[in-house]
Amino acid sequence: MDGTIRLADYRAYPFTIDHVALTFRLSPGATRVKSLLHMAPTAPNADLHLDGEELSLISLAINDSPLNKKEYSVTPTGLTIAASAVPTTAFTLSCEVEIAPNANTALEGLYMSNGMYCTQCEAEGFRKITYYPDRPDVMARFHVRIEGDLPVLLSNGNPAGKGEGWAEWDDPWPKPAYLFALVAGDLVATSGCFTTRSGRNVDLNIYVRPGDEDRCDFALESLKLSMQWDETAYGREYDLDLFNIVAVDDFNMGAMENKGLNIFNSKLVLASPETATDTDYMRIEAVIGHEYFHNWTGNRITCRDWFQLCLKEGLTVFRDQSFTRDVRLGPVKRIEDAATLRARQFREDQGPLAHPPRPDHYREINNFYTVTVYEKGAELVGMLKRLAGDDGYKTALDLYFDRHDGQACTIEDWLKVFEDTTGRNLDQFKLWYTSAGTPRLDVTEEWDGDTLTLTFTQSTAPTPGDPTKAPRHIPIQIGLLAPDGTEVVPTTLLEMTEATQSFHFPGLSERPTASILRDFSAPVMLARDLSTADLAFLLAHDTDGFNRWDAGHSLAKTTLIAMTTGADPSDDFLTAIGGLLADDSLDPTFLAHCLSLPSDDELAQAIFASGKTPDPDAIYVARADLARKIAQTHQTRLEQLYDATEVKGPYSPDAHSAGQRDLRRACLGLLSHIDAGHRAQALFDSASNMTDSLAALTTLIRHGRGAHALEQFRERWKDNRLVMDKWFMVQVGACPPKDAIATAQALAEDPLFDWKNPNRFRSLIGGLVANHAGFHAANGDGYAFLADWLIRLDPMNPQTAARMSTSFETWRRYDATRQAHIRDELTRISQTRGLSRDLSEMTQRLLG
Ligand code: TRP
Ligand code: ZN
Repeated sequence: MDGTIRLADYRAYPFTIDHVALTFRLSPGATRVKSLLHMAPTAPNADLHLDGEELSLISLAINDSPLNKKEYSVTPTGLTIAASAVPTTAFTLSCEVEIAPNANTALEGLYMSNGMYCTQCEAEGFRKITYYPDRPDVMARFHVRIEGDLPVLLSNGNPAGKGEGWAEWDDPWPKPAYLFALVAGDLVATSGCFTTRSGRNVDLNIYVRPGDEDRCDFALESLKLSMQWDETAYGREYDLDLFNIVAVDDFNMGAMENKGLNIFNSKLVLASPETATDTDYMRIEAVIGHEYFHNWTGNRITCRDWFQLCLKEGLTVFRDQSFTRDVRLGPVKRIEDAATLRARQFREDQGPLAHPPRPDHYREINNFYTVTVYEKGAELVGMLKRLAGDDGYKTALDLYFDRHDGQACTIEDWLKVFEDTTGRNLDQFKLWYTSAGTPRLDVTEEWDGDTLTLTFTQSTAPTPGDPTKAPRHIPIQIGLLAPDGTEVVPTTLLEMTEATQSFHFPGLSERPTASILRDFSAPVMLARDLSTADLAFLLAHDTDGFNRWDAGHSLAKTTLIAMTTGADPSDDFLTAIGGLLADDSLDPTFLAHCLSLPSDDELAQAIFASGKTPDPDAIYVARADLARKIAQTHQTRLEQLYDATEVKGPYSPDAHSAGQRDLRRACLGLLSHIDAGHRAQALFDSASNMTDSLAALTTLIRHGRGAHALEQFRERWKDNRLVMDKWFMVQVGACPPKDAIATAQALAEDPLFDWKNPNRFRSLIGGLVANHAGFHAANGDGYAFLADWLIRLDPMNPQTAARMSTSFETWRRYDATRQAHIRDELTRISQTRGLSRDLSEMTQRLLG
C-alpha cells in the first residue's frame, strides 16, 4: 500500500536458477541484453515473477517458444508469467531487452562514466539491466558475453575467450544478481600476481583511465596485503584465477565487492604522494581490504534478504578494522573506531533515523546502508568475540564458513553458529540486532575497607516504533589501578544481563581507581561521575589505551562545555595536556589524538544529551579559545614538537611517518592560534606532499588567511578531479562560520562545480555541513542551501540526494528558531512534485 517492505513477509522464491547466460550488445543509447535462464520450479502452481525497471521488452520465450501476450503481464516494476504458462519441470526462459546506459544518471544498473560502461547492482540495480528475480537468495552461475568496440571488456569470474569486439566470462561460483558486474572501456591495467597458500596463482589487475596508471601501485600492494591477511587471520583463500579492480569517477558509494570484479570510486584507488593524503592512503588500504574480505563474508556466504545486510557488512567492517589494526595502526585503531561510532552512530541512534542493525521494515533499502548497519554491526561482532574469547571466535567462524558456504543466510544462522560452538544461549544478545537505541550505562562505586563494589544500571531511551526496552547482554571490560598507577586487577570481562547488577572486588589493600569499559567493550554511553582529578589520573596512568585517551577526551569535553557558558578553561585540563606533552614514550598518533579537541558536532551532541540546547556559535568560540589557551600555556613544547616531527626525505605513507605528520599537524593547528599563520604559510610554500599541503591550507583558511594559497592550489590542480574535490571541501568546511554560506554559494557558481558528480557534490554540500556553526546559521540560510540542492539533485541521483539529507538528522537538538527553519525546509522538500522514493522516505522519517 504505502510500499513498505517487511521482514515478516519474507517468502522463499518458488524457482531455482541453475545457470544464467547473458549477452550484451553495447551501445550508449540502445544496449541490447539477452538472457537465458535455466530454471526449475520448487513449488507447484506458482506465478513466475521477475523484477524489471526502465526496460524495453523485445522478446520473451519459454523453452524457445515465444509467450503470447495473454500469458504474461508487465508493470513498471516487473513482469509476471501466469502459472498456467510455466512448465512443471526444468525449463529455459529467454528474454531480450533494450536499455539506455547514457541516460542513466542515477548510477545504478548499467551506466556510463567518462565514456566507459560500468555497473552498480547492489542493492536492486540488476533489475534495471534485465528481467530477473533480483533478490539475494536466488543464486546462480553466470556466463557473460560482451560485444562492443571498446578495448577492455570485463565481467565476473574467469576469462572464457575473447576476440575482435567481444569477450566472454564464466563465473563458476553461484551468486545473487547484486554481485553481477560489467565494465567496458578504454582502460589500462597495473598488474601483479598473488600465490595463494595452496599454491594457486592469481592474476591481479587495477584498471584505470589512461593517465591515471601512475597512481595505482599502492592499491595493488594493498590488495596483496589483504589477500595475505585473510589467509593468516581467517584461513580464507581466494577462489578464482583472476581478481580485477576498476576505478570509476562517478560512483555513489565507496566501492563494491562484485565477484572477481570489484568496482571502486576512483578516490579509493588512485594515490600518489603529491595528490593523496595519509588519510587517503589509509582509507584506500582499508577499503581494498573491505571489498576483498567480502569475497567470503558477503559473496561465498551472502544474505537471505536485505534486512540481513549487517550479516555481511557488520562482519566485513569488523574484519577490515582488524586488518588495519594488524597491518598499520595497532591499538590506536580502536580509538579511531570507537570515536567514529560515538560521533556518528550514537548521533543516528539519538535522532529520528534510529533503526536496529537489523531493521524489520523499509521503503527503500538504499536508505539503510548506514553507520548503524555497518559500524554498529561491526561492534556486535566484536562483542560476540569478547564473549566467545579469541579461540571461541575462531572456532565459531570456522563453523560459519563450513556450514554456510554457498548459502544465503540470516542473523539467526549467524548467532546459531556461536550458540553451537560456545554452548551459550544468545536470545538476549540478539536484542542488539533487533532493537534500536544506545544503552546508557550508569555506574556507582562503593568502598568498604577492602572490597570495591561496582553497580551498573542500564537504560535505553525509546526509539521510533519501539517504546519499551528490555535489558541487554553487555560485556563490560574493567581494570583496577592502585593510587601509584600500577594495575591491581588486570583487564577482566564482566557480563551484565540485568537492568541493575553489582560486581564485587574483595581483598584490596587500598581503594583503587576503576577503569571501566576498557577497549570500548560495548557500544554504550558510559555515564560516570568522575572528578577532573580522577580523569587526569586515568589520562596519566591507565594501561588501557582506549580508556586513557577517553579520559583526556572527557576532560576536554567537560572543559569546553563549561566554556560555552562563560567559564575559564580548567587548569586540570591544561596541566594534564602538559603531562602528555612531556611524556616522550607516547606513540605520536596517540598523542595527536589526545591533542585534537572534540568536534563542534560532538559537543553539540553532549550538550543536548545533558538536557540543554547547544549554541553553535558559542561552541565554535569555545573551541578556538581553548586551542589558543593550550598553545599559550605550552608554546615552547609545542614548537619543539613541531620541529622535531618534521619528516625528512621522500614521502612514504607508512604508519610511522604518518604518525609523525599527525602529531605535527596537531601542533600546527594549536600554534596557528598564536603565530599569525606563519608556520602554516611556510609549510604550504615548502610542502612536497598532499598531506602537508592540505594541512597547511586548512590551517590558513581556518584563520581567514587562505585566499592566496587557494588560488595557487587551484592553478596547480585544476585538472585533477580528486584534488579539486579537496579544494571545494576545505574552503567551505574550514572557513570561519560567518563566511561559510557565502563561500558555498560562490563555489556552487564555479565552472568546476560539476554537481552531477557525486564526489564533487559531496565535497561542497558535505563541506558546508561539516562547518557546524556555518551550516547552523541562525537565519536558516545553510538549511535552505542544502534543501535547494537536494531538490535539484533528487531527479538525477536519488541515492546521493537521500544520503545527504541525513545532514538534517540532528535538528531536534537546536533552539526553536533553528528547528522551525529546518522543519520548513524538510516540508518544502517533502512537497516537491515527483520526489523519489529514496528522498521521500528520508524526509518523512526526519520529520517523524
Ligand atoms: N556493498 C558495498 C560495500 O559496503 C556498498 C555499496 C557500494 C553500495 N555501492 C553501493 C550500497 C550502492 C548501495 C548502493 O562494500
Ligand atoms: Zn561492505
